[in-house]
Amino acid sequence: MSKRVVVAGIPGVGKTTVLKELQKLLGESGASVEIVNFGTVMKGLFEGAGQSMQRDEMRGRAVDLQREVQGKAAAIIAERGGHATVLVDTHMFVETKDGFLAGTPSHVLAGLKPSLFILLEANPEEISKRRLVDKDRLRGPGGHGKVMEELSWSRATAAACGVLTGAPVKIITNESGRQREAAEAILRLLSSRDWCN
Ligand code: AP5
Repeated sequence: MSKRVVVAGIPGVGKTTVLKELQKLLGESGASVEIVNFGTVMKGLFEGAGQSMQRDEMRGRAVDLQREVQGKAAAIIAERGGHATVLVDTHMFVETKDGFLAGTPSHVLAGLKPSLFILLEANPEEISKRRLVDKDRLRGPGGHGKVMEELSWSRATAAACGVLTGAPVKIITNESGRQREAAEAILRLLSSRDWCN
């Protein structure tokens, strides 16, 4: 049966970059792992309902609507993968107008049934710089204090997910210029469980 692994990290930590590296490594090894971006699935659902928007605008929508779309996205992702392991690229929380909204609240966890959480982290100064680099993104403020707050909220939320699911939480660091090493660490973790055959 397919396993789901949640890969989360605060905006600008480099999840997408590391998962692209992982995709290359998987291609080289012929392993069967599918990578799905939760935000892309949510965006498709919004668009399907006639609400097109830039991906960074979704967290500005009403919280009730985001929660509903989260549940639908989890149900779609739960159907993916066949026998392959599915890595879900997402966030431990998103910052909404009403406050921090959990990225994998209980109704999402019930759909995804993740077997493992991987929390990507990086040096806070580095994250602030990365947020400034991508001019086409609207990642919001990223001063040192803000990034520190988000990193600690992310860990706290990951701990809560671990309690709710019984799944372990592995923290992996995406150091500057070392995205390949972070991807290799993920691959080793999956291989050690025989989840990428
Ligand atoms: P999402 O799709 O996750 O946004 P994203 O673009 O994938 O991710 P981030 O903005 O978090 O950036 P990143 O950490 O992937 O960094 P990147 O690799 O680009 O989310 C979009 C939206 O979907 C959310 O805002 C939310 O509204 C919604 N959403 C998603 N999940 C949800 C959920 N569960 N519930 C509710 N809503 C949800 O890298 C950033 C920069 O750093 C790049 O320039 C890159 O080149 C550079 N960089 C990365 N790694 C390194 C390195 N090692 N060294 C040097 N530079 C690096």
